[in-house]
Amino acid sequence: MSATVAIARVLLPAGLEQLQQRFEVRIGGLDAARERVLELVHDADVLVADPAVPVDEQLLDAAGPQLKLVANFAVGYDNIDLEACAGRGVLVTNTPDVLTNATAELALALSLSAARFLSDAESDLRQGRWPGWDPAAYRGLELSGAVVGVIGLGRIGTRYAELCRGFSSELVYASPTARPEAERSLGARRLELEELLGSADFISLHAPSRPDTHHLIDAAALEKVQPHAVLVNTSRGPLVDLDAVAAALDEGRLGAAGLDVYEGEPQVPESIRAAPRAVLTPHIGSATVKARDGMARTVAANVIAVLEGREPPNPVAI
Ligand code: GLV
Repeated sequence: MSATVAIARVLLPAGLEQLQQRFEVRIGGLDAARERVLELVHDADVLVADPAVPVDEQLLDAAGPQLKLVANFAVGYDNIDLEACAGRGVLVTNTPDVLTNATAELALALSLSAARFLSDAESDLRQGRWPGWDPAAYRGLELSGAVVGVIGLGRIGTRYAELCRGFSSELVYASPTARPEAERSLGARRLELEELLGSADFISLHAPSRPDTHHLIDAAALEKVQPHAVLVNTSRGPLVDLDAVAAALDEGRLGAAGLDVYEGEPQVPESIRAAPRAVLTPHIGSATVKARDGMARTVAANVIAVLEGREPPNPVAI
């Protein structure tokens, strides 16, 4: 009897077809409600999850003791209760590397577009609010020559820093561990978080969502930033207190924001949707053909390895 793989929502064909050729595959669909996922996972050997699927005790219980692997279709795995998985002997895998460049490029795009107020400018034009060329209007910041502060210099943060280096930005970073290689190759200087917040023109978040990074950017952090600073978040929503960012934008204490991820998504608070100088995208950091197909293939490679009794290529350390 072939093994059963339960895909809580969807997996793109680049990975799905490989699984369908080998295993019995159940698919919840993009809109699968929690009840449906609880049902779907029953007796499965593998669960394929994604950032919108909380994998907790209840879901693991619903699966049953035969569950071997939770393969996350994402590099971040804050949707998964790692301890609950470890307690049951369930492996967890993710999809690193293949989305590094796509996500860093979106962070760069948000940096540039927020710094030039592109959402406000475009919406003024579309709504017929453009009175004509005005030398004083929409004057933003240039990335070239700016101090770019990278919070979290892992794979994506490092790639973002490399891209900014192409714009001759001055690079600083905050990280729990020093990155001597990046310091050498990128000329990046390590600062304490407070110092980075106070000196950077651009602040880009590339840290995982964990209890110690929850609301890393809150009202107190925003008091420290320069009033022209541009905040960019392509990591995870819970790192940022959105109401505090909206208030700082409203009151002119923050120059601009480029956000791709939100606490409690897909709900996005009215405060930030109404805030000026904010470019808001719907969690599309890894949304390129190359990255998303690569992620689907990586999910399949992890599932196939585990079900064939081999070590998965991308285990998440617990
Ligand atoms: C997407 O958000 C990811 O973590 O891969």
